[in-house]
Amino acid sequence: MTPELPDQAHSGTLGWSCPSNIALIKYWGKKPGQIPMNPSLSMTLQEARTRMRIQYAYGPGQGSRRLRFRFEGKEAPAFEQRISNYLAGLVSELPVLSHTYLEIDSENSFPHSSGIASSASAFGALALCLVQLEEEIRGPLEQGQFLQKASHLARLGSGSASRSMYPGFALWGKHEAWEDSSNEFAIPYQNYHRSFLDIRDAILVVESGAKPVSSSAGHSLMETNPFARERFAQARENLERLHATTGEGDWQGFIELMEEEALSLHAMMMTGRPGYLLMQPATLSILQGIRAFRQETRCRVGFTLDAGANVHLMYAGEDAPLVEAFISSDLLRHCENGRFIRDRMGEGPQKLEP
Ligand code: DP6
Repeated sequence: MTPELPDQAHSGTLGWSCPSNIALIKYWGKKPGQIPMNPSLSMTLQEARTRMRIQYAYGPGQGSRRLRFRFEGKEAPAFEQRISNYLAGLVSELPVLSHTYLEIDSENSFPHSSGIASSASAFGALALCLVQLEEEIRGPLEQGQFLQKASHLARLGSGSASRSMYPGFALWGKHEAWEDSSNEFAIPYQNYHRSFLDIRDAILVVESGAKPVSSSAGHSLMETNPFARERFAQARENLERLHATTGEGDWQGFIELMEEEALSLHAMMMTGRPGYLLMQPATLSILQGIRAFRQETRCRVGFTLDAGANVHLMYAGEDAPLVEAFISSDLLRHCENGRFIRDRMGEGPQKLEP
């Protein structure tokens, strides 16, 4: 055993529910070690979550087979392999792992094949469970360290997962204007006017299948994108501009920036070498429809996109009746089987009772 590890056997169960998040300032491009090329800012969701429970057995002799993973009640070898590789890379950060056998059960609150990225909520939940596991075996971390450590570990699994640890908004990546910001972990971002407390997100499902180009391939293509430098500078500047809008309750400025970021992300995909398109004709119809509706009604509504064809329609809770009527009357016909998922600004992770 490593000398600083307790030599008493220990077993137990623990669990966390962790939400997904949607980026407003996009992370796109990274260095080795999951270090982002620019800071990003996201809104934590409430409904789209991974619930994970872990049964663990710690002690000398444990750990030769480190893991058994089940997703929604079934063995899931591909996920198990990914998690196994992830855990193998974490042993220097979490030495208890080399002496712990884990049985992990995971489920998502959102439907299968909805096109919602699950890596943020899944790695978020796993990281929270691992930090708790370490606390149970080695004793509590210092005050305030729990979520920061979970964010750090989540980042090593999937960059965007680092931002799922806090209610409201989260900021990941170093920016001089935020002293506490870091490339290693996300921090809570609290500078927002109360009119932003009730942001809704309707996820319009245009395409639910696997994307033709994965996010990891997309991040790598930024290494040769001729506009990469400008993009990284734009994201830094947009973060500061967005900060001014959220602080003042300037919804119009907020929406303009959010849409600029979404289009810029997709512009990077189109101008990569090779370039590719993830938007579908239905995506464009939705974006045009949203802009026309906003112009006509002055509702506080706009869009953002992640690395796919689906649209996140973001709107103020006060404008929900009009916006939701518009979704039903105009937007759902562009969605796959008329599907959309309701979500909103979320309260952050929750510990599950054993
Ligand atoms: C477009 O976090 O999925 O959603 O770090 O390789 O796991 P990895 O990438 P991932 O990238 C997310 C990209 C994005 C923008 C964002 O969430 O900021």
